Amino acid sequence: MADEKNRAACFQLPQFLTTFTLSKINKNNNDMENRSLVTIAEHSKEKILYMLEMAKQFEERPNRHLLDGKVVATLFFEPSTRTRLSFETAANRLGARVIGFSDPKATSSSKGETLKDTIKMVSNYADIIVMRHYLEGAARYASEVTDVPIVNAGDGANQHPSQTMLDLYSIYKTQGTLENLNIFLVGDLKYGRTVHSLLMAMRHFNPTFHFIAPDELKMPEEYKIYCREHGIRYEEHTDFSEETIAEADILYMTRVQRERFTDLMEYERVKNVYILRKKMLEHTRPNLRILHPLPRVNEIAYDVDESPKAYYFQQAQNGLYAREAILCDVLGITLDEVIMDH
Ligand code: CP
Repeated sequence: MADEKNRAACFQLPQFLTTFTLSKINKNNNDMENRSLVTIAEHSKEKILYMLEMAKQFEERPNRHLLDGKVVATLFFEPSTRTRLSFETAANRLGARVIGFSDPKATSSSKGETLKDTIKMVSNYADIIVMRHYLEGAARYASEVTDVPIVNAGDGANQHPSQTMLDLYSIYKTQGTLENLNIFLVGDLKYGRTVHSLLMAMRHFNPTFHFIAPDELKMPEEYKIYCREHGIRYEEHTDFSEETIAEADILYMTRVQRERFTDLMEYERVKNVYILRKKMLEHTRPNLRILHPLPRVNEIAYDVDESPKAYYFQQAQNGLYAREAILCDVLGITLDEVIMDH
């Protein structure tokens, strides 16, 4: 904990994020275009660092009145604990009111109402729509049928950009930088939307990725093409051992996503494929931190929780600050305004 505090104390706005860049981003944030967050791929390096600085402001003081009078809708067509509750907490801490649902069976979508009609209806009531949906591309589609900003809270196996913002914030806090890191992604790289978003965001920071997955759950070809097109180094492994992870700065564990399998026999074959145990951490780097978007099933043994390298619960806490920043940003509230707010 002390180690984390020391690192957090060193967590400063990067030098290259100059006053000029900041004022340009601040100005752009005041423009009135649709400000949806659909994919992290649309964020520049400067914008990502700007958002991390905003998250840092919220970590220093989470309770503010920046969204007084606003209404945030949370539409969750798929189950969630962290994403929904941290967005709702973020909205509450900023003074907004929250409407929405966590069970689509209790809405008119169960009577056949289309996603388009649902989004148009909720747009009559809310200033921001945070949506999780089981269909890939649903957030993009929603953003095209309304002027209300859509925040993608996960669309199928595709993207999870708000998770990526909190992952980046967690990496920055624990490593003191986002640059030149060895990032090991482990588990379900086929269906895991968090790893897809993370690798896209990291293209700005010269990472080396190690993809550790069984053949059935390998990183999809489209993301490997993305890596090659953006000069991102990667290696693929099927072995998950102490030796394989010895050089890791970040070990990003993932759950095998049962709900995405069409063949449950295949899920049964791979569900226990990798389990991280505390003993495997003995010879890892001192700066290693273990991340996991959660929920976990069995891929991290409980004895790992005692390790100072386990960071997944703090990571989830960082989600509150990252999501406060996202809610402000999609409404055009600038970092200057956050800093000036008392
Ligand atoms: N990380 C994440 O998306 O968790 P939830 O499914 O609980 O929201």
